Amino acid sequence: MSSTLFRTKKVEQSIRDTEEPEHALKKSLSALDLTVFGVGVIIGTGIFVLTGTVAKNNAGPAVALAFVVAGVVCALAALCYAEFASTVPVAGSAYTFSYASLGELPAWIIGWDLVLEFALGTAVVAVGWSGYIDSLLDNAGWHLPEALSGRDGADGFGFDILAAALVLVLTAILVLGTKLSARVTSIVVAIKVIVVLTVIVAGAFFVKSGNYDPFIPKAQDVPAGDSLQAPLIQLMFGWAPSNFGVMGIFTAASVVFFAFIGFDVVATAAEETKNPQRDMPRGIIGSLIICTTLYVLVSIVVTGMQHYTDLSVTAPLADAFKATGHPWFAGFISFGAAVGLTTVCMILLLGQTRVFFAMSRDGLLPRFFSHVHPRFRTPHRPTILLGVIIAIVAGFTPLSELAELVNIGTLFAFVVVAIGVVILRKSRPDLPRSFRTPWVPFIPIVSVLASLWLMLNLPAETWLRFALWMALGFLVYFAYGRSHSLLGRQEEAPKVDTN
Ligand code: ALA
Repeated sequence: MSSTLFRTKKVEQSIRDTEEPEHALKKSLSALDLTVFGVGVIIGTGIFVLTGTVAKNNAGPAVALAFVVAGVVCALAALCYAEFASTVPVAGSAYTFSYASLGELPAWIIGWDLVLEFALGTAVVAVGWSGYIDSLLDNAGWHLPEALSGRDGADGFGFDILAAALVLVLTAILVLGTKLSARVTSIVVAIKVIVVLTVIVAGAFFVKSGNYDPFIPKAQDVPAGDSLQAPLIQLMFGWAPSNFGVMGIFTAASVVFFAFIGFDVVATAAEETKNPQRDMPRGIIGSLIICTTLYVLVSIVVTGMQHYTDLSVTAPLADAFKATGHPWFAGFISFGAAVGLTTVCMILLLGQTRVFFAMSRDGLLPRFFSHVHPRFRTPHRPTILLGVIIAIVAGFTPLSELAELVNIGTLFAFVVVAIGVVILRKSRPDLPRSFRTPWVPFIPIVSVLASLWLMLNLPAETWLRFALWMALGFLVYFAYGRSHSLLGRQEEAPKVDTN
């Protein structure tokens, strides 16, 4: 039995599958498209919303260091992702990579995990977007009824109608085709980058050096409360849970990590890339470098404009300008943030449907979902199914805990990918690799340790929720995926009808 759980899909087979006309996606993206795609999804709720929350609650001005820590963890993972993505250029990201290296069960686990990451990530960003739109509507004097704006309605019912509507509209755009959404994406990405640069350049004029004192606030004990909310590492070692100080920087890093999610999504578009062997590594690493630089600069400027204790937790970039008496800038930033979050949401949704698509093409989920639309050439069935589910989740669920769950899932994927690089080097040294991770196995090992470290800095309750989701995944695999796996059927009876 263990041999079937760890059966691997040949890399050549993965590539051949993408060439079956009925299941093939259009190959139209270049390295520049991928970088734009990356920046489009990476810059979002993390920098626009979490910077303020984390500076105020966990790290003070040292939030800039938290971005550096999270950026380093992602860079290590990116070096591993880039090798995998350029060796196994088919839809599905870490899922496909692990199917080719670690085996079917680990691949299932990672695919299941990625579905969680992207679905909840989409929901988180949609709710963040709705907050900005709400505030713009407020400026114009228009107010949504409480119960439809997602905040606690009087009778306990709250539905975030803007977030749900956004997800449904984006779902429709994705069904119409990647090229259209890539074009829309580039315009929106330009607006978003201009807004971020405006914060950095204009904000620099309002920085007061006194706001950086202290740069790393002294550690403060957290009042005894629900211990499940403390970072797992603090509970494991029996430390009194604390904020700020050096440990606060790591707690902050495990949260602002959300700001980097997305470069891995670039890898999910490998199958739609013209020359994945060359363009994929350029797209992933290029977009990561651009974003890390912008994040560090933005957080330095914003914590210099306002003392960290005064920062807003809902719209910190815009509110810092309000606090310096420049509401016009604030309005422009809110508008840009709302526009920018749209692309983040759309690309997460895209990554999500592509993982689902790849899993169903392999028979681990019903094959019904792997048929491409005859005219639009997009996997319309999983796109529509997941779009509707995410719209409902985004309508009913609040943000912060979801973001932590997204982070743990993504970090877990990083761990599997890094291990996969080492295994694939040993099991398939012959495969051409246009990008090779340097210093294997040293870099993958450091990448695993760094990702685990950030995971340990997440709350214990996040670990519990993650464990529950994964347990459900095992159940689905053993009840359905294992017996329907195309690879398994091919191994048992080579002439089986695959549809
Ligand atoms: N990195 C993306 C964001 O910050 C998911 O919204």
